[in-house]
Amino acid sequence: MSGKFGNLIGAIDEGTSSSRFIIFRAESTEIIASHQKSVTNIFPCEGWYEQDPMEIINVVRDCIEKAVEQLIELGGHPSDIKAVGITNQRESTIVWDPESGQPLYNCIIWSDIRTTSTVDYLLDKVPNKTRNKNYLKPLCGLPLSTYFSAVKLKWLLDNAQTVQAYVRNNKQMMFGTIDTWIMWNLTDQMHVTDVTNASRTMLMNLETLEWDPILKKFFDIPPNVVLPAIKSSSEIYGNIINGALKGIPISGCLGDQQAALVGQGCMHLGDAKCTYGTGCFLLYCTGGNNVDSEHGLLTTVAYQLGDRFPVYALEGSVAVAGASLSWLKDNIELFESFSEIDSLVKSVPDNGDVYFVPAFSGLFAPHWDSEARGIICGITEETQRGHIVRAALESVCFQVKDILDAMNLECGTPLSKLKVDGGMTNNNFLMQTQSDIIGLEVMKPAMVETTSLGAAMVAGNAVGLWNMDLKVEGNSRIYKPKITDDEREMRFTKWKMAIERSLGWDQ
Ligand code: G3P
Repeated sequence: MSGKFGNLIGAIDEGTSSSRFIIFRAESTEIIASHQKSVTNIFPCEGWYEQDPMEIINVVRDCIEKAVEQLIELGGHPSDIKAVGITNQRESTIVWDPESGQPLYNCIIWSDIRTTSTVDYLLDKVPNKTRNKNYLKPLCGLPLSTYFSAVKLKWLLDNAQTVQAYVRNNKQMMFGTIDTWIMWNLTDQMHVTDVTNASRTMLMNLETLEWDPILKKFFDIPPNVVLPAIKSSSEIYGNIINGALKGIPISGCLGDQQAALVGQGCMHLGDAKCTYGTGCFLLYCTGGNNVDSEHGLLTTVAYQLGDRFPVYALEGSVAVAGASLSWLKDNIELFESFSEIDSLVKSVPDNGDVYFVPAFSGLFAPHWDSEARGIICGITEETQRGHIVRAALESVCFQVKDILDAMNLECGTPLSKLKVDGGMTNNNFLMQTQSDIIGLEVMKPAMVETTSLGAAMVAGNAVGLWNMDLKVEGNSRIYKPKITDDEREMRFTKWKMAIERSLGWDQ
């Protein structure tokens, strides 16, 4: 029996800066109710970035309760929600005690760069002293970088006293990315992850989709660190055991960038999307082919529906996109509120020749240089706030151009248009500039909550309430390039000069 709204599917979307719970009508992009709340960021020292795992789960629970209250006010009933999906910031790492459920350390967030020296140590372990950062890539699709979970886990094992005490006493501790932590807490302690999240740890073999003994050995993971069971992205993992959704199955799980790929309907070979959030992530679906990139891209699992074959993607990851504007607001106090961005952009006719490389956590794709540091160059006496804000927004577009170029080299057939989503796509200047810089049409969907939608789709699919072949809604806006090839070339050359200055800065 379903009520006023028919069958509903819930999506927990635990992002880097906030969490939300969105209730969708099954097989539709219609949002019936939602609630969003931010999580406190903790920056204990330069380059360190943590969040409190207990706060993360409390915020998730709060979002669920508030969204369900809304649903009830609208005349719906919690039992109309037939399944829940999870999507989450990837790579962020938590370890906890299985008996008390207490974390042994704060969650280390994906963009934290405390592990620079850990990466250095690991590079020294590469045979024949080659320090080849792609040494493990044939197995896990990823280069050695501060970004991935195994490197963070290694740091915890080497540096966190609480974790070290567990190793000394041979006491079990659970490892998990955020999906695993949420699942453990909402269900009866199911210790599971899905293939997409597991593919970001550096511990999963991309072919077997299992934890790889060679990778575990390389990172010196002791046997008392328990890794979660790896499941597909669409199956019933367990039921929620308390709160407004007690008894409802969790049946879908995807890392947030993979969820956006699914939510955009980019599920087949040659489909691609770019999501603009704290960071920026361009994923290109390679179908059943696990393609090894030679141009600085990652190989990752895009999704796996139940016992069907996995689908893979190539990914270009940019660490800092929206985060550069937060930095201008909070650290530099260049403006007080994001609502000022539009007028600051319009206050000047162009970037005044200012270029901003926001390499706060090194540079990810295609450079993978953890020693790169941020740089603002081209400043003169005439430079105003508007120029710096424009340069920050343009840096997002140039970074996307960098990874798009790498993607085109890799895939042979260049992309003819770019599908976009994520919070920053509401900025028209950014989207127009993106189209100008890449010289392609940029297509924004009518429904921009594609990440949550992707999680709802795989959760609904597992309980027979979402046909994955259904077309997602059309575009709300298409941006077309408005500058000449010469101008594009000139601006991109300047950007490359700025990148050269930022690479290897922290050596
Ligand atoms: O890999 C990190 C990514 O999953 C974070 O996404 O949207 O929170 O910036 P977002």
